[in-house]
Amino acid sequence: MAGYEVLATVLLTILFRRSVAQLSPSFYNSSCPTVETVVTNTLQQAMQSDVRIAASLLRVHFHDCFVNGCDASVLLDDTANFTGEKTAAPNNASLRGFDVIDQMKSQVDSVCNNTVSCADILAIAAKAAVVLSGGPSWTVQLGRRDSTTANFSLAQANIPPPTSTNAQLIAAYQNVGLSTQDMVVLSGAHTFGRARCTTFSNRLFNFTNGQPDPRINTAYLATLQQICPNGGNGSVVANFDPVTQDTFDNQYYANVLNGQGLLNSDAELLNGTTAALVSNFSTDQTSFFNNFAVSMVNMGNLQPLTGSQGEIRSNCRKTN
Ligand code: HEM
Ligand SMILES: *[C@@H]1O[C@H](CO)[C@@H](O)[C@H](O)[C@H]1NC(C)=O
Ligand SMILES: *[C@@H]1O[C@H](CO)[C@@H](O)[C@H](O)[C@H]1NC(C)=O
Ligand SMILES: *[C@@H]1O[C@H](CO)[C@@H](O)[C@H](O)[C@H]1NC(C)=O
Ligand SMILES: *[C@@H]1O[C@H](CO)[C@@H](O)[C@H](O)[C@H]1NC(C)=O
Ligand SMILES: *[C@@H]1O[C@H](CO)[C@@H](O)[C@H](O)[C@H]1NC(C)=O
Ligand SMILES: *[C@@H]1O[C@H](CO)[C@@H](O)[C@H](O)[C@H]1NC(C)=O
Ligand SMILES: *[C@@H]1O[C@H](CO)[C@@H](O)[C@H](O)[C@H]1NC(C)=O
Ligand SMILES: *[C@@H]1O[C@H](CO)[C@@H](O)[C@H](O)[C@H]1NC(C)=O
Ligand SMILES: *[C@@H]1O[C@H](CO)[C@@H](O)[C@H](O)[C@H]1NC(C)=O
Repeated sequence: MAGYEVLATVLLTILFRRSVAQLSPSFYNSSCPTVETVVTNTLQQAMQSDVRIAASLLRVHFHDCFVNGCDASVLLDDTANFTGEKTAAPNNASLRGFDVIDQMKSQVDSVCNNTVSCADILAIAAKAAVVLSGGPSWTVQLGRRDSTTANFSLAQANIPPPTSTNAQLIAAYQNVGLSTQDMVVLSGAHTFGRARCTTFSNRLFNFTNGQPDPRINTAYLATLQQICPNGGNGSVVANFDPVTQDTFDNQYYANVLNGQGLLNSDAELLNGTTAALVSNFSTDQTSFFNNFAVSMVNMGNLQPLTGSQGEIRSNCRKTN
């Protein structure tokens, strides 16, 4: 190797280390070896009365990571003199599962108190949610610490809205350091869970010139119009995946191709270079699963607090 190549390798290594900091799969091997089992068991229990909770928890991790990295900032409750992220537009009356995260924290603390961060519990819960719903597994990187701050306006700015165009989606991911491929792959999470009528009803009656969005399949449109009548209750929910509603599979991509993408942002994946990946994943579940595992690790690596940064919260809802 020439001298400059060695130098380049060293610099790249430093840059790489900086970007993913010191996360490691074995971070809790001696301090809390059962953490993954405890979190997974708590989720499994919760799914017995509310199967949707898996999807809800995966989404909480996403909304955490897109705002100053995966630091559990999204879990901080508002107080009289503090406004966190919970009431920001993408989260308000929308994110759910905070009570189950509290249960996980309390179960984990009962076996290894003051050791595991809320941010790591979210990362573990996200994987468990996918696995328990039939999706792929991956090795979760650990060692994140919890923030002492949150940022309402950054949550509004960084989390893309459901009305996003293809170009806006790509830009929102690029803004946090994720690729266009990560965007298409992670959108596959809309293979389970629910969305409120208010997040897509603009497509059902008067999208352009008094007509519904022409990209919606006719039969699917009729179904959605029934669930979400014009002027009706925007808090009623519809399944993201009308075919396999609670299973984590590649059905989402077939739905998008068939005019059954629920949100504008889902339909927009066909509008641009991203269409080729949609097509690939729709017929190749192995390809989707392998890529989903990679992109979840990429998202989980966003700007973690490590070492002596931040803290290990004793209550996920407030700073120590
Ligand atoms: C690509 C940009 C994305 C947009 C515009 C978007 C938008 C939305 C919206 C509007 C909802 C419904 C919220 C409500 O009804 O209040 C939703 C739900 C959901 N999102 Fe996304 N999302 C995106 C990416 C992601 C990613 C990256 C993940 C996870 C990896 C994800 C996972 C979910 C899940 C699982 C649900 C259902 C949650 C539940 O049932 O409680 N989404 N998303
Ligand atoms: C940590 O524990 C896991 C699971 O028990 C094991 O597979 C892995 O080899 C351990 N890693 C280290 C560095 O001890
Ligand atoms: C407000 O903030 C201060 C310090 O940041 C804290 O001590 C106090 O308990 C907070 N709450 C209220 C209601 O003032
Ligand atoms: C959050 O939603 C509630 C209704 O669920 C509403 O009363 C409140 O004004 C909303 N807050 C913000 C900041 O939009
Ligand atoms: C964990 O430690 C805190 C103090 O940091 C203490 O208040 C709590 O009772 C402990 N919980 C358990 C389960 O030991
Ligand atoms: C939130 O983030 C914005 C944009 O980075 C920044 O200008 C602002 O100071 C932050 N607010 C808080 C409370 O940290
Ligand atoms: C559709 O929306 C436009 C713009 O908001 C409005 O001018 C028009 O009257 C609406 N048409 C129908 C049929 O509701
Ligand atoms: C709207 O729907 C939600 C969810 O089904 C329900 O909790 C709420 O009570 C409804 N509101 C009204 C005014 O009917
Ligand atoms: C695709 O995006 C372009 C640019 O945003 C837009 O002009 C065009 O109408 C879109 N096509 C469809 C089918 O939505
Ligand atoms: C999907 O893409 C992968 C990787 O590019 C490729 O190996 C695979 O053959 C493709 N599958 C289909 C069905 O096109």
